[in-house]
Amino acid sequence: MKILAYEVRDDERAELLRVADELGVELSCTDDVPSMDTADAAAGFDAATFLGMGTIDERLLTRWHELGVRFLSTRTVGHNHIELSAAHRLGMRVCNAGYPPEGVAEFTVMLMLLTLRNYKPALWRQQVNDYSLSGLMGRELSSLTVGIVGLGRIGQAVARCLSGFGCTILACNPSPVAAFEGQVEFCDLDDIFLRSDLITLHVPLTDETHHMIDAAAIERMKPGVVLINCARGGLADTDALIAGIESGHIGALGMDVIEGEEGITHIDHKTEILSNPKMAYLRQFPNVVLTQHMAFYTLADTRSMAREGIRGIVDMAAGRPCPREL
Ligand code: COI
Repeated sequence: MKILAYEVRDDERAELLRVADELGVELSCTDDVPSMDTADAAAGFDAATFLGMGTIDERLLTRWHELGVRFLSTRTVGHNHIELSAAHRLGMRVCNAGYPPEGVAEFTVMLMLLTLRNYKPALWRQQVNDYSLSGLMGRELSSLTVGIVGLGRIGQAVARCLSGFGCTILACNPSPVAAFEGQVEFCDLDDIFLRSDLITLHVPLTDETHHMIDAAAIERMKPGVVLINCARGGLADTDALIAGIESGHIGALGMDVIEGEEGITHIDHKTEILSNPKMAYLRQFPNVVLTQHMAFYTLADTRSMAREGIRGIVDMAAGRPCPREL
């Protein structure tokens, strides 16, 4: 079994090679992002694994299929970058990679606290020996109603983290989660919009969830609402977020992800003009904390992504059940 690993960061290379060695896989690594320009690097490989910055569309899948690639894994939980129906039509098997949800959940809580306590402008000030307080008065999480959109593994971990803060927790999910009955109040999305002081998104990006946070949704929210997104940029319409921040209806944004981040995030652009002007514009606001899609970036999570990315392919190829097959 020969696997080509795309988008390999230096910090995951050793674990990828170690797992490949353990499972008897011949692994080659490249930092290239999968695209039509880099597709042919997969000639002679049975499988390819990648992260989330390429668009794995029908054209690319067809080329890989022509080259003999039959198995794919994304070393991510999210898989909105893959045209799964096309992969299935071609008979290609695809899986994703799971990792413990606590890393993303804790990062989410960090963004909540950073935004609620105005830490971004406080940090700016103390860099220039300005230790003044004016304008930095914050709010306690304990006094707020937090709405969790999506109570999957990450949403549940966020609810567990929040349980110690004493806030009221609302959650919406396709169906109530028995283990959380009594700890969170299950309600519909519109209730979350109407009643929450702070809303955090933990749903996958699909046709149904695309731009679930748009101008109409923001209009329904409380003035001063805080929005946190550590899931996918496409869940929120950036123009609506900008309008909400400009008008003050949105009190603060904590965003680990943003629409159009591909090709920008995880790369050093400090000597260039950013190709996504909305990202550059939003970044400047004192009440907008924009991080580089790094909520997943812990040792435990990155190890798990590398392991599951290789193991999933090996299991599918061996005809063993692969719990994360898509
Ligand atoms: C995911 O696992 O879904 C992530 O967001 C990780 C990132 C490397 C794309």
